[in-house]
Amino acid sequence: MRVIWILASLGLVAAEDGLNGWLRYARLPRGMLRHAKVPTHIIALNTSQASPVFTAGKELQKGIQGVLGQNPEVTYEGLHGRQGESSILVGTIEAYADAGGAADIPELEEDGFWLNTEGDSVEIVGQNERGALYGAFEYLSMIAQGNFSEVAYATNPSAPIRWINQWDNMDGTIERGYAGLSIFFENNVIVSNLTRVYEYARLLSSIRVNGIIVNNVNANPILLSLENMAGLGRIADAMRPWGVRIGVSLNFASPQTLGGLDTYDPFDKSVIAWWTDITDKLYEHVPDMVGYLVKANSEGQPGPLTYNRTLADGANLFAKALQPYGGIVMFRAFVYDHHLSHENWYNDRANGQMEFFKDLDGAFEDNVVIQIKYGPIDFQVREPPSPLFAHLPNTASAIELQVTQEYYGQQCHLVYIPPLWRTILDYDLRVDGQKSVVGTDILSGKTFNKKLSGYAAVVNVGLNTTWLGTHLAMSNLYAYGRLAWDPTNDDVRMLEDWTRLTFGFDETVLETITKMSMVSWPAYENYTGNLGIQTLTDITGPHYGPNPASHDGNGWGMWTRANEHSIGMDRTVWNGTGNAGYYPPEIAAMYEKVETTPDELLLWFHHVPYTQRLKNGNTVIQHFYDAHYAGAETAFGFPAQWAALEGKIDRQRFEETLFRLEYQAGHAIVWRDAINQFYFNKSSIPDARGRVGNYPWRVEAEDMELDGYRVTAVTPFEAASGLRIVQTVDNSTAASVRATLDFPAGVYDLAVAYYDLYEGQASYELFLNNRSLGTWVGDLEDRLGYTLTRGIDGHSATRITFRDVRIRKGDEVRIETQPHGRETAPLDYIAVLPKGVVE
Ligand SMILES: *[C@@H]1O[C@H](CO)[C@@H](O)[C@H](O)[C@H]1NC(C)=O
Ligand SMILES: *[C@@H]1O[C@H](CO)[C@@H](O)[C@H](O)[C@H]1NC(C)=O
Ligand SMILES: *[C@@H]1O[C@H](CO)[C@@H](O)[C@H](O)[C@H]1NC(C)=O
Ligand SMILES: *[C@@H]1O[C@H](CO)[C@@H](O)[C@H](O)[C@H]1NC(C)=O
Ligand SMILES: *[C@@H]1O[C@H](CO)[C@@H](O)[C@H](O)[C@H]1NC(C)=O
Ligand SMILES: *[C@@H]1O[C@H](CO)[C@@H](O)[C@H](O)[C@H]1NC(C)=O
Ligand SMILES: *[C@@H]1O[C@H](CO)[C@@H](O)[C@H](O)[C@H]1NC(C)=O
Ligand SMILES: *[C@@H]1O[C@H](CO)[C@@H](O)[C@H](O)[C@H]1NC(C)=O
Ligand SMILES: *[C@@H]1O[C@H](CO)[C@@H](O)[C@H](O)[C@H]1NC(C)=O
Ligand SMILES: *[C@@H]1O[C@H](CO)[C@@H](O)[C@H](O)[C@H]1NC(C)=O
Repeated sequence: MRVIWILASLGLVAAEDGLNGWLRYARLPRGMLRHAKVPTHIIALNTSQASPVFTAGKELQKGIQGVLGQNPEVTYEGLHGRQGESSILVGTIEAYADAGGAADIPELEEDGFWLNTEGDSVEIVGQNERGALYGAFEYLSMIAQGNFSEVAYATNPSAPIRWINQWDNMDGTIERGYAGLSIFFENNVIVSNLTRVYEYARLLSSIRVNGIIVNNVNANPILLSLENMAGLGRIADAMRPWGVRIGVSLNFASPQTLGGLDTYDPFDKSVIAWWTDITDKLYEHVPDMVGYLVKANSEGQPGPLTYNRTLADGANLFAKALQPYGGIVMFRAFVYDHHLSHENWYNDRANGQMEFFKDLDGAFEDNVVIQIKYGPIDFQVREPPSPLFAHLPNTASAIELQVTQEYYGQQCHLVYIPPLWRTILDYDLRVDGQKSVVGTDILSGKTFNKKLSGYAAVVNVGLNTTWLGTHLAMSNLYAYGRLAWDPTNDDVRMLEDWTRLTFGFDETVLETITKMSMVSWPAYENYTGNLGIQTLTDITGPHYGPNPASHDGNGWGMWTRANEHSIGMDRTVWNGTGNAGYYPPEIAAMYEKVETTPDELLLWFHHVPYTQRLKNGNTVIQHFYDAHYAGAETAFGFPAQWAALEGKIDRQRFEETLFRLEYQAGHAIVWRDAINQFYFNKSSIPDARGRVGNYPWRVEAEDMELDGYRVTAVTPFEAASGLRIVQTVDNSTAASVRATLDFPAGVYDLAVAYYDLYEGQASYELFLNNRSLGTWVGDLEDRLGYTLTRGIDGHSATRITFRDVRIRKGDEVRIETQPHGRETAPLDYIAVLPKGVVE
């Protein structure tokens, strides 16, 4: 442990590359230092280096050094007559009582803590060691924000389960990873250098996450080899000083595929013995393992249904093996048939989890927790809460959220997710006609009087020094931990704390990040999928760019049922799939009727004509058009807002963020145009405001004079402005396009729409009257860190903008290109944008 320790402490003062996240402990501005009042001595009541209390002592020291430039000493041996001296004391309530303190501290629950900064000393007392460390981080968060107010309060978690799910594969790749390779695995083994794992545990501890499943739910049994079990022991050792316990995802068929048995039937004696033995061995290496996560009979994963056993039989197999150790099984409710016939109007993937689980309530062992995605489908930009939350009165349950922006722009778009989570956490499901708010009543365990409940979030941190591939996405991880502790935490307040800790105290920085972040999810919803129609991304591909057609006509069940006249899933009881009826009666009645269904979920529950009127009087189709224009316009404004922060943030983070916001602004336009074009094409109803399909400030590439280029269509068709693009005739010969501009003289921004594919780096140079305005290369696959596609489509479509170009009527623009690899330097259009025009 000592080695890791030293490495980690050296790393902390490094450059502003994002590695320290919100735990930078940057020196306070001089004005604030004047109010600083912090004791000069730290007493941590535990001498064991593996103890979170010991860690807390070190962390307090480091934090105070960083924030205040002071050098407090730390002792670990107890009070030793230091009562009365000004000190920061940190320890468990038990250790504190043994030392003669702790008299007035209120009752604490597991992981809870007491923080008292009144008077000359600071008391940080945890119900357990983890709680003490959480309290130390709370105090550090206060002083790092220049908050030296006197407080005395106890705080306890809303729920005991506050976990992370990594989707890291054993080969080091990450499912839905957009920030480099795994910090845990490479080449089917655990990495030897666990510094990043240790640093990650530090970040998680500061937001009070107490458990982590380290490998993908689509689990590779090789994790259970003896070598890897020892590796898991090392991971656990690296995270334990931070109070983060580890668990693993299991593959249900492991007794057969790894163990060589001829069955994985959960009732078979040899199978039971195999899992018991594996569990015993795991606990030898990881004595405090939290337990297992299981994805069974879901999306092709093996499970108990193969043997006609129930999902409860499957979950209980693991539960029993874990019981001697106090471990728990998180069993995913994400079970559905992905070969549903779309021709049957009454089929509904959203019903899957209800059909599979509702009759199993009470059939699970006490240490099984059903882990339920927040909505009935799959992390869409808008979903109602899963009705299953209301149907497991006798079974422990937890919510599954996603910090990974799988369906929210894959960390290439700024999307601050808490406002989306809030639509679920604040939702009153009215179980038995009583107040049953998902966060404070159901997940807290109150409604059904449960001991086990809580939160899991899928997180895709990778080796990239920014952890998530982009600095601003870290606010989502930060807020996740805080919401799991207290789901009533305010979205803006969490964001402001995070921003001060991450970027300092400049008021403009604070206001800008808050403003952009708070509109980012509504904007994203606006330019992707509205009214509950889902994200409208390519659901059979990377879940990134626009492709509404991919939703329908296949077995995946994320249908929109769009035709020439109408759109939406009919989930009513009277005429549809009956899904609305799975909600408690008051909610079911609301969703049963178009008139009482809130607009934002209209198409989730109803199949209606495009001309259906919303509550605001607009038609569905006109709302699609308007919202897509409004959302794209919001994102279009981000780069300028960020650019105004130049000089107020360090260069590296300023530029890396600006690059992504510029990218987002362009891709939001791609989304807007693709979706609008698609539904205009489907419905034949024009935009009442004349915008869709009509781009007066664009020059389409297919209308230009081409040299070495040919005109083609793209797939899907709506991913090209004017339904056509140009690409070079081969992938090795230089080529060019040119056009004479016919716009009034003035200063414009010139945006070039092109496609940037995986495998290939075409180069481009833009000229105005033979004067070069700039060059670029199709290298987004390296710069964005997500897997672009190999096709010319809505994922690869992008724009680059050259600002403030003086143009006269009759000027000539020319783009000279050099294709490379798969990139045939595909071009869609040039937009010549007057100030204020978003086109
Ligand atoms: C000190 O920490 C160790 C390791 O976490 C723990 O086993 C022990 O109980 C702790 N002692 C006290 C007095 O809290
Ligand atoms: C200072 O921290 C305390 C405790 O977290 C909090 O209640 C208070 O609102 C903070 N003050 C400011 C000005 O943020
Ligand atoms: C371990 O990784 C860290 C960064 O993640 C690096 O700074 C350190 O040098 C590595 N240690 C060894 C022994 O390679
Ligand atoms: C499961 O049950 C079905 C229907 O009852 C039966 O056809 C099938 O053979 C059974 N499968 C196994 C593996 O027992
Ligand atoms: C009722 O369902 C049928 C399909 O069975 C569908 O064609 C029709 O549009 C639905 N009617 C209404 C009013 O939603
Ligand atoms: C989203 O679209 C609606 C409807 O056009 C609009 O009223 C709202 O301001 C938009 N919000 C954002 C953040 O783009
Ligand atoms: C819709 O798209 C198809 C396929 O590209 C095209 O043939 C058709 O002309 C389009 N219709 C409209 C109304 O744009
Ligand atoms: C660009 O340069 C070429 C070759 O020098 C010349 O023939 C052409 O007229 C120039 N075009 C413009 C728009 O200046
Ligand atoms: C982090 O990811 C970005 C985007 O992929 C990339 O440009 C950068 O080089 C990466 N940095 C590290 C240290 O991996
Ligand atoms: C060039 O294009 C051809 C045809 O599309 C493709 O087969 C070939 O792999 C490409 N060359 C490279 C280097 O990618």
